[in-house]
Amino acid sequence: MADPASKSMDDLVALCKRRGFIYPASEIYGGINGFWDYGPLGVLLKNNLRDRWWRDMVLMPPKGPDGERLQIVGVDSSIIQNPKAWVASGHVGGFNDPMVDCRESKARYRADHLVVVRQASGEGQMYAYVENDEASEAAALKKLSKYLKGDVGETETVALVDLDTSELARIVGPDTKEPGTLTEPRAFNLMFSTRVGATASDDEDNTAYLRPETAQGIFLNYKNVVDTTRVRMPFGIAQQGKAFRNEVTPRNFIFRSREFEQMEMEWFCHPDEAAKWYGFWQRERLDWWKRCGVSEDNLILRQHDTDELSHYAKQGCGTADVEYRYPFTAPGYGELEGIAHRTDFDLAAHQRESKAKMEYFDQERNERYLPHVIEPASGLSRGVLVLLCEAFTPDPDRPSKVYMKFQPDLAPIKAAVYPLVNKDGMPEIAEKLHAELTRRFGTRGLIEFDAKQNIGKRYARMEEAGCPFCFTIDGDTPGDQAVTVRHRDTLEQDRIAIDLVPEWLGEKLGG
Ligand code: GAP
Repeated sequence: MADPASKSMDDLVALCKRRGFIYPASEIYGGINGFWDYGPLGVLLKNNLRDRWWRDMVLMPPKGPDGERLQIVGVDSSIIQNPKAWVASGHVGGFNDPMVDCRESKARYRADHLVVVRQASGEGQMYAYVENDEASEAAALKKLSKYLKGDVGETETVALVDLDTSELARIVGPDTKEPGTLTEPRAFNLMFSTRVGATASDDEDNTAYLRPETAQGIFLNYKNVVDTTRVRMPFGIAQQGKAFRNEVTPRNFIFRSREFEQMEMEWFCHPDEAAKWYGFWQRERLDWWKRCGVSEDNLILRQHDTDELSHYAKQGCGTADVEYRYPFTAPGYGELEGIAHRTDFDLAAHQRESKAKMEYFDQERNERYLPHVIEPASGLSRGVLVLLCEAFTPDPDRPSKVYMKFQPDLAPIKAAVYPLVNKDGMPEIAEKLHAELTRRFGTRGLIEFDAKQNIGKRYARMEEAGCPFCFTIDGDTPGDQAVTVRHRDTLEQDRIAIDLVPEWLGEKLGG
């Protein structure tokens, strides 16, 4: 397995563009920061991951600690809801990031992502840089060295948010040379607002919000689901879909964008059982990512410190993140999914604000209560990034120099069928095999057919696309009724009977 730190994000982003996985949104107009479009292969990869999650959460949920299959149902709620819902959930009042502007360069930063380097004595000018950005850190150190005329001595780093106003005046921003150009940190609400209805005006009453998480649509439908289905406590409600956050500094490709997709499940249970389920879902979610082919060495489970906890998780058992070692965080890790004990925070808040009764009558316990919630919340877009980073495998010995090692079942292209040359009856045999494989596996991904290019170039293209198997019909095929299968990862080539190809591929794709 290649070391994540050795993988270049620039090379990965270039491959994603070249092979049609991901393009910058509105590229012909110069793009728009924080927005991305999925191309023909990207949308297939994303849908495969989305469908795997839905299958493993809703259609075939896991078995619980007692060996019984869990009950989880799905919903698909509106992106725009009554704005009161976002007041109750705490997002209107508290879904903020601290933001700092540079008056000179007009750059905008997340205040909690700025680090300041200064002399250990704390005296003199200080230099801010963006956390985990090597170039920014190097520039700050260079400026400090110049200011001290090369006599740097001992230095220390402090978080910008820990400094007071008088100290701010002595800070030189990441993109400037003089101190005092950074504004004081101020709260910036991350929700995108819009206006609803034809008579929309600027008054507050028409303001609605694009959802910043799919979770609230689940809480808003909790009562409907309890009243109209046969679910019994404990049970889950799952939702996948778009979420929007006006991030101060979108960055690292699709890691932090302003429009993205989430896969969230709210697990409702008796308060006394919350700790048990919190542990269960942490283990289950970490294992799930491993089952998607993400290497164990690149995944960790990290418990949040108390000062990191969201407003809803403060009273509960806490929050744990499944983290992945991205090329831009290595050797460290970054968030992929959060598993939070949200207590009864959301149901209680919606009960208060809407006056609708959210209590559940538990017949087995003969008890009425507000259930607690354990929430595994993952990003579909971020999951796609993890699959891309994990699959990206530089290999200087191949003509393509790199291949994408997707798990066959998640790969956007399942197989390619190639006539070695475009004559001598080979294309006809290839077309027949292609039609049969498309009939059998077409609902799970593409079966590629291409008769024209030089065979080496066709193989190289499939390696970059992450196609696990190429079947080649050559001059011997009409005689021996066999084809050559080329394996993407090992480059080995086997000969198999053409009639057995569908069954062989079915086994490799997992049924
Ligand atoms: N309902 C809880 C919730 O939304 P979160 O940790 O803010 O929790 C859950 O988001 C997941 O959504 C994250 O673990 C991440 O995978 C994804 N996510 C959050 N913000 C994102 C962004 N700006 N761009 C891409 N993915 C994001």
